[in-house]
Amino acid sequence: MSPDREPVGVIGTGYVGLVSAAGFAELGSEVWCVDIDAAKVERLQQGESPIYEPGLEELLAKHSGRLHFATDLAEALQRVRLLFVAVGTPPTYSGDADLSAVHAVVAAIPASDRHALVMKSTVPCGTGASIRRIFAEQGKGGLRYVSCPEFLKEGSALPDFLEPDRVVVGDEGDWAGDAVVDLYRPLLTPAHGGSGTGALVRTDVASAEMVKLASNAFLATKISFINEIANVCEETGADVVEVARGMGLDARIGPKFLQAGIGYGGSCFPKDVEALKQLAGNSGYHFQLLTAVIEVNELQKRRVIGKLHKHLGTLVGKRVALLGLAFKPHTDDMREASSLVLAARLHADGATVAAYDPVAEEQARGLLAGLVLAESAMDAVRDADAVVLVTEWPQCTGLDWGEVAAAMRGRVVIDGRNALDAQAVRAAGLRYEGIGRAAPDPLGGAAARRREDD
Ligand SMILES: NC(=O)c1ccc[n+]([C@@H]2O[C@H](COP(=O)([O-])OP(=O)(O)OC[C@H]3O[C@@H](n4cnc5c(N)ncnc54)[C@H](O)[C@@H]3O)[C@@H](O)[C@H]2O)c1
Repeated sequence: MSPDREPVGVIGTGYVGLVSAAGFAELGSEVWCVDIDAAKVERLQQGESPIYEPGLEELLAKHSGRLHFATDLAEALQRVRLLFVAVGTPPTYSGDADLSAVHAVVAAIPASDRHALVMKSTVPCGTGASIRRIFAEQGKGGLRYVSCPEFLKEGSALPDFLEPDRVVVGDEGDWAGDAVVDLYRPLLTPAHGGSGTGALVRTDVASAEMVKLASNAFLATKISFINEIANVCEETGADVVEVARGMGLDARIGPKFLQAGIGYGGSCFPKDVEALKQLAGNSGYHFQLLTAVIEVNELQKRRVIGKLHKHLGTLVGKRVALLGLAFKPHTDDMREASSLVLAARLHADGATVAAYDPVAEEQARGLLAGLVLAESAMDAVRDADAVVLVTEWPQCTGLDWGEVAAAMRGRVVIDGRNALDAQAVRAAGLRYEGIGRAAPDPLGGAAARRREDD
């Protein structure tokens, strides 16, 4: 351990906890990880990553001497002052965040003047205040509390952790907030005493909690917005890819999160947007915009079924290949993946569904009864009446469309992520349809003009 690096505890070794632990180890800290899942801890002790995240297994191996894994808190409590909490906060039936894992951690921390709970889990605004109240009621008022929300994206989680846009620290101005800022110091910009990329936002606990919820809600809004524009493009003959390009060049708008497709999924956006909507509702405010964002996203997943009906008529007895299952490329996370809704709808309409995903196969198995899991993209498309690109994995976007055409029974390719080379697909004799994309233009087409501009 670097002599001046604070050792840290990480409670919950999922996507956020494990990446944070590896990241802190990379910065030189000794890290004491705790998880109640004994099988997961055993795999980690053997140097195996229980999740797929690019570069993670290598970083865990590089710092195996600094990373310790256990199923109980005892050693972490002895070794560290800062206990980062990264347990899951899934949605409940009411749409609120389920804080039972957070509360289990709160209950397990003994009274102490030396420790602080640093909340990385995404929690509703007001959670910090309520945990501080619980601490006080239980005679544990000496424990400090810091909100330090996490903004990493699965698939690029390590670079996101090590090169953050911002580090948000919400605290009560005590030693714990200072210690968290010092821990992150190397990742902060020179203006904040570091040599990294992250601006520091030091604020109160409630505002830090809201920064996280509002950020995810805003990004989800941007996605639903461009998806609605795409749907209007389909009615009016415009190409949403061109429209998004033109919009994104406006610095006030920016190009990110303007890719139209079959809707957002994953473990964060759906639950965090719903949780913020419910939080507002519970506080007496009807968040109309988020209600629409959620509804647009639900409908967007199902529009693919309409496109398939348009091309194939009835889906009974038809074979549909789904390319990609994970909610986005470079992750094995299947939580709230659009593929789940799509496959279920296809089954309900009588289709046979074959699917391929380079890494999410294990996670997908068991989630969807009757799904045929293929060994490769080419296996999935064999004898298919239609192919749907669900996740823009390079293994799925970079296919030889001539070979695909030869292997398929039908002609239809639905590009659910607008990530395929439409011309190459059409040149193979297939019927390409994207999301919000114009039909081919006899004068050369928008795509041809785009290439000339680039
Ligand atoms: N996954 C993301 O991309 C992401 C990004 C930013 C924020 N977040 C937030 O971070 C939090 C964690 O998300 P995740 O995706 O890493 O979840 P996850 O489900 O992958 O991991 C949670 C881990 O916590 C463990 N756990 C549960 N209860 C525990 C307890 N009492 N003590 C110790 N360990 C316990 C579980 O066994 C599991 O390993 C959530 O609040 C999520 O919203 C996630």
